[in-house]
Amino acid sequence: MKFEFSANTPEMISSDVILVFAFNTKTEKNDSYEPLTSFLSIDKILEGQLKRACDLEKFTGKRGEMLAIIPEKKILPSRIVVLGLGTKAEFIADDLRRSIGIFTKSKKDKIDSACLAIPRELTKLTNLSIISQMIGEGFILGSYEFSKYKKKKTRDREFSSVIISIERAEEKNTIQEALEVSDFYSKSTLLARDLVNEQPSVATPTFLANIANDIAKSNPKITCKIINKKELEKMGMGAFLSIAKAADEPPKFIHLEYVPDKNIKKKLAIVGKGITFDSGGINVKTGDHMAEMKSDMAGAAVVLAVFSVIAEVRPPFPVMGLIAATPNLISASSTVPGDIAKAYNGKTIEILNTDAEGRVTMADSLSYAIKQGATEIVDLATLTGSVMVALGNDIAGLFSNNRELTDRLKSAARDAGEKIWELPLEKEYKEQNKSEVADIANIPNNRYAGSITAALFLEEFVENKPWAHLDIAGTAFVSKSTDISSKGGTGFGVRTLLNFLKL
Ligand code: BES
Ligand code: ZN
Ligand code: ZN
Repeated sequence: MKFEFSANTPEMISSDVILVFAFNTKTEKNDSYEPLTSFLSIDKILEGQLKRACDLEKFTGKRGEMLAIIPEKKILPSRIVVLGLGTKAEFIADDLRRSIGIFTKSKKDKIDSACLAIPRELTKLTNLSIISQMIGEGFILGSYEFSKYKKKKTRDREFSSVIISIERAEEKNTIQEALEVSDFYSKSTLLARDLVNEQPSVATPTFLANIANDIAKSNPKITCKIINKKELEKMGMGAFLSIAKAADEPPKFIHLEYVPDKNIKKKLAIVGKGITFDSGGINVKTGDHMAEMKSDMAGAAVVLAVFSVIAEVRPPFPVMGLIAATPNLISASSTVPGDIAKAYNGKTIEILNTDAEGRVTMADSLSYAIKQGATEIVDLATLTGSVMVALGNDIAGLFSNNRELTDRLKSAARDAGEKIWELPLEKEYKEQNKSEVADIANIPNNRYAGSITAALFLEEFVENKPWAHLDIAGTAFVSKSTDISSKGGTGFGVRTLLNFLKL
């Protein structure tokens, strides 16, 4: 997909479709629409055809609502699509990203190019740069399909060109720069989706380690160290290894590091859960949705995706990306319930349920982050089914021991259009993780508040350093497509973290 610029107004641009916008106006009696100026100027040329069509079809401008019209009068583009943005009072930039995502997902094969003028009114509600970025992200994120193993894509959602009509020449640079940002924000999100959607026998620990190595090779500011099984044993990463024991695929501990030229005194670690397939282990999962457990490395995918573009964000401090990668399988050499593993920080963990493997591997990744001098940690993990029960597929759970870090993450997520909601690290529940025989047990003795007790478990390994945990079990993989994502991996967390690196 290419973004191009034209000094012409949209009716003078030769393309398959012009995109114009409208708000929803809802009063007690009447659900209707309010056209934006881009709509009005085309409507004038068409002598009111757009309005007549919208009235006839009872178009209301709700977010994602679309109406396609063939112009009666001769203008260059062959179609016009009116796109609803929701109400003006409630408008946030994400509405534009989503409505363009919906439009892109509905693209027919015969439509190949689109053109639009930046909706003026929206730049007043936010600013030109954000509006341009939303347009770019809507088009790129909405066009995604994982089609690697299909003879042919279900539908080609990718426009070969999107032409932006530039009314004021002096704005071109701002728009162009914002589109470049949207390009790497979206492409990295799509990388995370690809990694999650890949079949588990291909997306092995070695495969993830190779991707990490490739990322480091392509950028002089990034280094990558892969720690293999022998060395992990020497180091004492007993928690990670206890989960890796059952698999033939060798475990890999991935340590990416970005170091800027000049840096301020801070070292951020982003840690991703890297279970390349979660069968549950000896506590084997039921068959229903087991295939979805290829997504249990979605946290790791976010880390790799962020590092693939980190040099474009240029954070002024060093960043580590850490992943303990292994599948959670079953074999004669599996860890069994009752076994005790010793984590990298010396704490012992009684494994009472082999399906609560994520927190066990994360115990070692978090301990490693601390040992490596992290001053701030953000982890992303498809950790608990409970978070899905609590918050569903749209909202990730956020847990943190630090208010200021929490606020920064919330603001980064808001601008990224990714929803996160803070849940408490309730101290009273800590005793539920107690073990009779080890320092801590890997499942609580109470089945309620499972995402809180899992987060409390992780907290035991961060030595009170500022830390935030995002439980992305519900948001990383969806079985129903969303406004900007097809079924499967969503890349949730990538854009939040990219924003976060700037704060
Ligand atoms: N990977 C799962 C969590 C998960 C569930 C992710 C659904 C995505 C969708 C995790 O390893 C797990 O199995 N957790 C158990 C913990 C329980 C045994 C305490 C769970 O949530 O049921
Ligand atoms: Zn599990
Ligand atoms: Zn898991």
